[in-house]
Amino acid sequence: MRTQVGIIGAGPAGLLLARLLQARGVDCVVLEARDRAYVEGRIRAGLLEQGSVDTLTEAGVAERLHREGLAHDGLELRFEGENHRIDLAAITGKRVTIYGQQEVVKDLIAQRLADGLPLIFEAEGVAVHDIASNRPSITWRENGTARRLECDIIAGCDGFHGICRAAIPAADLTIFDRIYPFAWLGILAEAAPASHELIYARHADGFALATMRSESLSRMYVQCAPDEDLAQWSDARIWDALHRRLARHGLPSQVNEGRIIQKGVTAMRSFVAEPMRFGRLFLAGDAAHIVPPTGAKGMNLAIADVRILAAALAAFFAGRGEALMDDYSRLCLERIWKVQRFSWWMTQMLHRGDMNDGFEHRVQVAELRYLCGSDAARATLAENYVGLPYAM
Ligand code: PHB
Repeated sequence: MRTQVGIIGAGPAGLLLARLLQARGVDCVVLEARDRAYVEGRIRAGLLEQGSVDTLTEAGVAERLHREGLAHDGLELRFEGENHRIDLAAITGKRVTIYGQQEVVKDLIAQRLADGLPLIFEAEGVAVHDIASNRPSITWRENGTARRLECDIIAGCDGFHGICRAAIPAADLTIFDRIYPFAWLGILAEAAPASHELIYARHADGFALATMRSESLSRMYVQCAPDEDLAQWSDARIWDALHRRLARHGLPSQVNEGRIIQKGVTAMRSFVAEPMRFGRLFLAGDAAHIVPPTGAKGMNLAIADVRILAAALAAFFAGRGEALMDDYSRLCLERIWKVQRFSWWMTQMLHRGDMNDGFEHRVQVAELRYLCGSDAARATLAENYVGLPYAM
C-alpha cells in the first residue's frame, strides 16, 4: 500500500489533519491502535476556543457542534468565598464553546467513514521506518496479517505515550518536562451544572472546577494527590469537597448533586519536545506537548498544530517546496510556549502546592485580587483563554 501521508493516531489531531489534507487534495491513511468504541468513548476535556470552532466549521465537520455545543461568553473565578466574573466576550469579542473532545472525534470519524476514506482501527504493533529518508514507511498487523504502508510523509498524532516521538533519536530532541505535585479527580454526574458558565475555584483545601457537558450533565473536578486512591473518595466525600470549595459567603451552594456516572484521576504535567520534526516524521498534538488542563488548551493546541501542518504538507505536494515544512516546528512552538506559560500560570495560581504554606496562600489570593481588579490583567487572561490568534 502507498499513500502521501501516513497518519498515526485517530484523536483530534490525526483525524482533523486527515480532513484538512483531504480538502487540499492530499491522500492519507489514518492508523489507530485502539478500537473505534474506545476512541469515541474516552473522556477528555471539552472546551473549544473560538478559533477551534471556526477551524472545525471551515473543515465542514461542525454541524452537530453548532447544534449541541454550549457557547459561553464568560467564566467565573472564585476565591475567599467571593465570585468574580470575567466577561470574555466583552473584552475580546470572542467566546468559548463546551463540546466534549470525544464528540469532536465521533464527528470526524463519521465524516471520514461516510467519505469512504481509509481509517484503520486496531492496528497492532505499529512501527515507523526510514523516517530520515524520503521514503518512510509504517508497518503493523491487522487481524494477525502483517501490513506495510509506504509514504512520503508520516504524521505522528499518536499522543503522549505513542510510538512516534519515541522513534526520534534522543540526541535529536530536547525535552522540557514538569510534573506537578497534584492531580484532578474528575466526575461526570447526572445533575444540572452549578452555573451556566465555568467556575474556577481556589480554596485552602485545593482547586475545584465546575464545568458541564449539557444542561443536565455536570463535569466537575477537585484537586487531589497524583497517586490518589479513588476508593478513598466516596460520592459523599466528593460532593462535600465540591460544596466547600465552590462556596460563596452567605449564599446557598450552587452545586447540584446527582448520580455520578464516571470517576477518574487526571495527571498534571507540562511537557514539550523540540523540534516537532525529524526528517519526514512530523509530530502534532499530545505526541509533542502536554499542558495541565487548567487552561483548557490541550485539544485547541492540537488543532492549531494541524492547521499549520496541513498547509505545509499541501504546499509540499503542490510542488511549492519545503520552506513551510521547515518552518513547521518553529511556528507551532511559538504558540505552544505561550500556551504553556498560560496553562502553568493558571495552574500555579489556583492550586494548593504545600499544605502548610501561609505565604503561598496569601500570594495566590493577592494575585487573584490583582487580576480581578485590573482591566489589563483581566484582558490578558481573557485573550489567552479564548485563544491567541493563529500564525496561519
Ligand atoms: C472540561 O469541561 O472538562 C474542562 C473545562 C475547562 C478546563 C478543563 C476541563 O480548564
